[in-house]
Amino acid sequence: MGSIEFRNIYKSFGDNHVLRGVDLQVDSGEIFFVIGQSGAGKSVLVKHLIGLLRPDQGRVFLDGQDVTDLKEKQFYPIRKRCAMVFQNSTLFDSMTLRENVALPIRKHLGVSEEEAAERADAELEKVGMKRYAERFPADFGDGMRKKVAIARALTLDPEFVIFDEPTTGIDPISAAMVDDLIKHLSDHLGVTSIVISHDLRSIFGIADRIAMLYQGKLILDGTQEEFKNSDDPIVQQFIQGLPDGPMEV
Ligand SMILES: Nc1ncnc2c1ncn2[C@@H]1O[C@H](COP(=O)(O)OP(=O)(O)OP(=O)(O)O)[C@@H](O)[C@H]1O
Ligand SMILES: [Mg+2]
Repeated sequence: MGSIEFRNIYKSFGDNHVLRGVDLQVDSGEIFFVIGQSGAGKSVLVKHLIGLLRPDQGRVFLDGQDVTDLKEKQFYPIRKRCAMVFQNSTLFDSMTLRENVALPIRKHLGVSEEEAAERADAELEKVGMKRYAERFPADFGDGMRKKVAIARALTLDPEFVIFDEPTTGIDPISAAMVDDLIKHLSDHLGVTSIVISHDLRSIFGIADRIAMLYQGKLILDGTQEEFKNSDDPIVQQFIQGLPDGPMEV
């Protein structure tokens, strides 16, 4: 239950060979971080899970089901089970925060407007944004919009959540709150998470396992300890944030 597997994934855009044989397995309930430089292909990789991109080669499994060749429509139910918080939070500017979060509830659960609003408020509460429920996205900066996008992603009680840089651009207190939320989902609800992040505090705070993408492949897949103790100079350069080193930029 709740596992994710990428098997030998290749993906190119023209001459840009982004993924060159990625193998990755995430166990049920795990918090799995994917790290790597800008442009390494982190967002591209996770988009394969919900059919936003299709691999040139390789297979993708969700909870043991091979989803590689599903038709667009067959991905609809998958997208309810596997929520994605996109890197650039995609809120509707003309709707209040409450309406944004209530949208998937209204669409998929067929509940009354009042009930949808109540549930939306409960989700907003979890990210500390309930008091702003009647305001519009334009009133807020990236960090707070991101929190609302997280609240919206969690409305349908997904089994899997993909967080694409959830703490980037957020203040440290809010970032810690988001980390706590991800941990709570894993510990208490058995949610399987993939978190894409550059945030060392998050990575070495809550990751069960980490994988680093470099030049189209995973150069290391292991625990926090295995990353800290790795003698791969590229891994060390990245996790220590060193400007000089072997990594090609
Ligand atoms: N739909 C697309 N069409 C063409 N090229 C794409 C597309 N999506 C991504 N790419 C390219 O694939 C490469 C990897 O992009 P990706 O967004 O996965 O990087 P990333 O690791 O998420 O980086 P960042 O940390 O900056 O978000 C980039 O060179 C990008 O330009
Ligand atoms: Mg990205």
